[in-house]
Formats: sequence, C-alpha cells, structure tokens
Amino acid sequence: MMTCVRIKVQTESNMADQKKILCVGLVCLDVISVVEEYPEEDTDTRCVSQRWQRGGNASNSCTVLSLLGAPCAFMGSLAAGPVADFIMADFLQRAIDVSAVAWQVKGQTPSACCVVCPSSGSRTVLLYDTDLPDVTAEDFSRIDLAQFKWIHWEGRNPGEQVKMILQVEKFNAQLPDHQRIGVSVEIEKTREPLYELFPYGDVVFVSKDVARQFGFDSAEAALKGLYPRVKKGAVLICAWAEKGADALGPDGLLLHSDAFPPETLVDTLGAGDTFNAGVLHTRCPTRADALAFGCRIAGRKCGFHGYDGIRDK
Ligand code: ADP
Ligand code: FRU
Repeated sequence: MMTCVRIKVQTESNMADQKKILCVGLVCLDVISVVEEYPEEDTDTRCVSQRWQRGGNASNSCTVLSLLGAPCAFMGSLAAGPVADFIMADFLQRAIDVSAVAWQVKGQTPSACCVVCPSSGSRTVLLYDTDLPDVTAEDFSRIDLAQFKWIHWEGRNPGEQVKMILQVEKFNAQLPDHQRIGVSVEIEKTREPLYELFPYGDVVFVSKDVARQFGFDSAEAALKGLYPRVKKGAVLICAWAEKGADALGPDGLLLHSDAFPPETLVDTLGAGDTFNAGVLHTRCPTRADALAFGCRIAGRKCGFHGYDGIRDK
C-alpha cells in the first residue's frame, strides 16, 4: 500500500515537471545597435556593432526559461515573411514550443530599433507593433490547457486577455489545488487600459514606469499603494533596475532583494523579462529566494549582450 502511494506521488510530480510554462505576448525583431555614446538627434555616426535578435517581453522570457532548462511555450502573433522566418528559426533552435503562435493574414511582424549604450547602461527602444492583430480569446480557446503548469501574460490587449484568464480559471475549477495552472500578468507599459489586469494574476509584475505613473518613487511605495488592486491571495512584484526588486503578498510582509550588478554593465535590454522568467522558474514568488534568483539572473544578463551567457555560468 505504502509503495503504491509513493509511486503515485512520484508520477504526479514527474508529470508536473514536464508541464510547460506558457508566455503570451509580444514577439518582434529587435535590430540592436550598440553605441559608445547615445547619439544626438540629426547626426550620422558609426555604432560599435549591430545585430538582429528575437525580442518582445513574452518571447524574451521564453528564451530565458529555455536557457534555465524549463519546458516552455510562446503564444503571440506573427505575419509570414522573412522576419517571421528569422524569429521562428530562433524559437526552434531554443526548443521553445511555438504551436500556439497565431499566424495573422494582415499586418506586419513587429520590429524595434534598439540602441544599447554600455557606458550609461541605457537601452532605448522604438517599437512598431500597431498593425498586427493580437492573439484573441478565441485563439486561446483552441489550445490544450492541460499541457501547462503556469501561464504568464504580458499585458497588451487586456479585454481579450481577461477572457483568456477566465478560461483558465474555469479550467482550474475542476482540478485539485496542486494541479491548477498558475497565472501571472505583467503590467509594464503605462497604458491606462492595462491596469484592468491588476486583479487577474496569482502573481502580478508591475514595472517602475507604471509605479512612477501612479506617483510612487520606490518599489516599496508602489507595492503598498497598488496592492489593494490585486486579487485576494496574490503576490505583487515590482523590479526597480539597480535597486533590485520587492514583493508583497497576502501576509503583508514586504520582501526585498538587492540587485546583483555585473562586473561591467553591458546590455540592459530585456533585464525585466529575464527577471520575470527567473521568478516564474522558481514557481514560489512569495519566497525571498525567488526574488533574489530573479535579480541574480537579471543582473548577470546585464553583464553580456543578449541572453546566451545565462547558460554559461
Ligand atoms: P526593465 O526596464 O527591462 O523592465 P528593470 O529595470 O525593472 O527592467 O530591471 C529588472 C531587474 O533587472 C532588476 O530587478 C535588477 O535585478 C536587474 N537590473 C536591471 N538593471 C540593472 C543594473 N543596472 N544593474 C544590476 N541589475 C539590474
Ligand atoms: C525588452 C523588449 C524588447 C522589445 C521591447 C518591446 O524588454 O521586449 O525585446 O523590443 O522590449 O517593448
């Protein structure tokens, strides 16, 4: 009898390990120019290097999850063409499941012009992503939720995203607690409609830009001020660049992790997406070590270009 119980528990935990983390949101092409100094307007200068990289918050978080060895999947929109070919090849090379990608027949695959300046640590992004339709709740209803243990939404089209989250809540309602899909949302851009997402995540990531927009000048102040907006039992997390990150959960205790600055600051593009992936990877955002893990890999990421160095250490 004892043996049977042990086998059942092991099987369930193995199955949970194989389940994927799904990230829903933007994928775009980042055309990245690395500069010695940030250029002045209306000048014509040489940059140090230039590269193409698959970008977008949800897509970057998948890159990091995959480098951390976590099975993951991406859901977002693409339009067929050479840019999408580049993006798909990169997803596949990193073993990120792309079966949920919504192929659009109208519009262009989004693209961003990114200027990375190691001497100041800045990353300046000019994104064009407005003519490609976003993933809808109908697209989402076609995927098999049983393959996921966690679903993360990068806030983009909140009306549809709320409907997707409600589908997950309905799916979860028939399952025992330990088999339920965890839900996180990221509210990064300062667009009023995105604030509708606050009450929908077990974990809510709010950016310093949004915090500042609400008039808060620290992660701690933002968490205390914004916590009433999240649902009962949720964890609210706010990362604040070189100041690290804070989290507030239902017990009212404020957790903090300092940042882990790299020896030399090189590339901060995607630091936030790396932090989110790190926290999700631990699956226990209420623990101080989850926050520290997110900061550690995000800090490490700032010490090299792109994401591959995450795997090297
Ligand atoms: P983003 O602007 O990309 O959304 P944030 O500035 O919020 O990202 O930073 C996310 C996390 O990345 C921070 O909590 C921190 O751990 C790490 N980070 C970002 N910038 C730095 C930096 N200059 N030095 C060390 N860590 C950093
Ligand atoms: C980094 C990033 C880039 C992309 C931009 C979109 O966080 O996802 O890859 O160009 O932000 O806002």
